[in-house]
Amino acid sequence: MRIDFSERISRLPPYLFAELERIIAEKKRQGKDIISLSIGDPDLPPPPSVLESFRKEAANPANHKYSFSQGEPDFREAVANWYEKRFKVKIDPKSEVIALLGSKEGIANIARAFVNAGDRVLVPDPSYPVYSNGGALLNDGVPLVMPLLEENGYRPDLESLNDAKMMFLNYPNNPTGAVVNESFLKKVIDIAREKNIIVCYDNAYSEIVFDDYKAPSILEIDGAMDVAVEFHSCSKTFNMTGDRIGFAVGNRKLIEGLVKVKTQIDSGPPVYIQKVAKQALESYVNGDPPEHLKTANRTYRQRRDTLVEGLKSIGLECEKPKGTFYVWPRCEEKSMDLTMKLLDVGVVVTPGIGFGKFGEHHIRFALTRPKEEIEEACKRISKVLRR
Ligand SMILES: Cc1ncc(COP(=O)(O)O)c(C=O)c1O
Repeated sequence: MRIDFSERISRLPPYLFAELERIIAEKKRQGKDIISLSIGDPDLPPPPSVLESFRKEAANPANHKYSFSQGEPDFREAVANWYEKRFKVKIDPKSEVIALLGSKEGIANIARAFVNAGDRVLVPDPSYPVYSNGGALLNDGVPLVMPLLEENGYRPDLESLNDAKMMFLNYPNNPTGAVVNESFLKKVIDIAREKNIIVCYDNAYSEIVFDDYKAPSILEIDGAMDVAVEFHSCSKTFNMTGDRIGFAVGNRKLIEGLVKVKTQIDSGPPVYIQKVAKQALESYVNGDPPEHLKTANRTYRQRRDTLVEGLKSIGLECEKPKGTFYVWPRCEEKSMDLTMKLLDVGVVVTPGIGFGKFGEHHIRFALTRPKEEIEEACKRISKVLRR
């Protein structure tokens, strides 16, 4: 029998990261000494209190039943309390919160509830590929690129936005490390309300910040609740990438749409993981991050400074990002060519082209390895660039 992929699948671009993972696995199999600064998966462990609540909650038989599709009421309550403490935003846990199997899942599913075939979906470029692929293309939407240019602080030109059904935005930004303030978010909300665009704001890195920067929630902006939904993740905040837990908060019709989709697809994250995430969110004291997070951010900041200074000394210029654990230097040559050369000396980075065409001539480093490895990586990179 001939088996054809759906047109939807055929529209997807090749997933460059999967190809890179294959090459890295092959190099490791050959016994090559690899420093992987490519994937945004923290090397730091979850906080001890999180590991302790895992042991307790997983051991409770009641926590192995189906969850509500929207998430357990006490988890949603904890999210609402966290929002109030962290962002001073009041949320109704009954109708304005949904638990997610990681924020990626919610980002991919939201368009399914609101985008019709052929509807336009604004996606930043460079960006996390899920907005364009899982979000727009797999739901028969048409991705429309908003270039993020260095000269604009990696922000889209809001004045020249096309009409669209939905828009994805992400700050602190992967891959550029750019951050924004409330006045930018206010412009986004004003334009979205004027043009009737649903705003999907990915705030997965809101807690990974440096140099006294505090990431805002888009829901702090007046009128945001009319048009926006915000995505959060426990992956980076509590080093729980593999536990698959995140949440979306925002306009109740947008949350209702996600609930409608997810009720037909999954049954919510495991109850014990929601209990653990609830306790992790409760570890914030009056909106201030717990000690483990402050320590993690000090570690990332130190690594950031080591890397940015190391790169500068060998001719790869870039800013010190105020948020995320990514560093995004410019490079003269094509990003894939440089990535392959660096791979030859055992340094794995992500080529900017993997984040869209406006990511070309950049490479992305993830600060997810210890300082000593970053120093060694800089030595190896300098050999490649001197050649
Ligand atoms: C910008 C951005 N959003 C969302 C995610 C997904 O995170 P999660 O683990 O919550 O699905 C990632 C993961 O790397 C990311 O970089």
